Amino acid sequence: MVSYFCLEKKLDMLYLNTMNFNSNKLDKATVTITGGCGFIGSFLVKFLVSTAVKKIIVIDHLKYGSKNRLPDDKRIEVHKLDLAEVNEVALEKVMKGTHFLFHLAAEKHNQSFDTPADVFEANIAGFYRLMNAAKSIGVKKVVFSSSLYVYGATTKDQFSESDIPRPHTLYGLSKHFGEELLHYNFKQFGIDYVAIRYFFVYGPEQYNGTGYKSVIVKNFERLCNGLAPIIKGDGKQSLDYIYIDDIATFTIKAMTSTATDITLNFGSEKAYTINELTKKMIAIAGSNLDPVYEEKDITHNTKRVCSAVLAKEQLGFEETVGIDEGLKRTYNWVKHNK
Ligand SMILES: NC(=O)c1ccc[n+]([C@@H]2O[C@H](COP(=O)([O-])OP(=O)(O)OC[C@H]3O[C@@H](n4cnc5c(N)ncnc54)[C@H](O)[C@@H]3O)[C@@H](O)[C@H]2O)c1
Repeated sequence: MVSYFCLEKKLDMLYLNTMNFNSNKLDKATVTITGGCGFIGSFLVKFLVSTAVKKIIVIDHLKYGSKNRLPDDKRIEVHKLDLAEVNEVALEKVMKGTHFLFHLAAEKHNQSFDTPADVFEANIAGFYRLMNAAKSIGVKKVVFSSSLYVYGATTKDQFSESDIPRPHTLYGLSKHFGEELLHYNFKQFGIDYVAIRYFFVYGPEQYNGTGYKSVIVKNFERLCNGLAPIIKGDGKQSLDYIYIDDIATFTIKAMTSTATDITLNFGSEKAYTINELTKKMIAIAGSNLDPVYEEKDITHNTKRVCSAVLAKEQLGFEETVGIDEGLKRTYNWVKHNK
């Protein structure tokens, strides 16, 4: 696999806006990242190695992630552990000295239907044990990757943090539990936290041979192989896509900022239909193929876009890599890795 960072350097397009999050707070700090070998987690690691952190402890069971995604830096220590199984004592041992915890490891949305017990064990019971370990070793702050699936509803002009959560998947429910568990730990034990409801994060390295493959990666792969992109249903469903660099930058900013006891949406606030997205992708790939329309799926008739007003207020959150540039970077990565 060609590393995104090598590729971007080669293409002279390296974007690494560490100014946004680089604060003294991380100097000499020990940071633990669960799910650090996954898509978003590995970008956090890549961004964090540009800071003065002392140590980066990665906890990942490696079923959907890969160590290959991580940079070569002797401050990184990877522990192959399954949060669904590992007990608090073992976690305390591995995480000893941790000041800041990014919790990203999770069974994802699809597992709600395929293996619901795994969602419960990893995302609910596992997070409960992780927080107990964090409390015991004196972790100061936790940043948690929650999800738009907490909202439950799938059609609205803009989802806002003040909406009442009504998740209708076990995955969404587990993320809502995570947010409430953090609030409880803040009130009872004073552990600071920010929970982030990511919308649709995309970018290079999203799929690494394991885990979830987004429609963007799937259709770019098809285009690279001379095949027409596939659209499920009428293509009018619209989603809020946000590029990985902005997600990584502001996830770290959530940790270094004074924001606490709060849940924030992270998204572009723009709703692109799959038809619009596919048109852009076809143009970027220089293809003359028309998309093929297939049977509608659960995304039919949905519109999922967020209000990021609160994240702007709290963190100065902004989208700096727009959809056209983000898609180009993703295409370049897919092209070099097909
Ligand atoms: N990618 C998105 O668009 C998106 C949107 C909303 C929320 N999220 C959340 O962000 C987080 C990261 O998502 P991602 O896209 O990087 O996913 P990913 O699947 O690429 O990364 C998750 C990582 O966690 C690890 N993991 C999963 N279960 C584990 C367990 N029980 N014990 C130890 N490690 C485990 C996996 O091996 C993987 O490396 C997840 O919590 C996800 O729910 C992502």
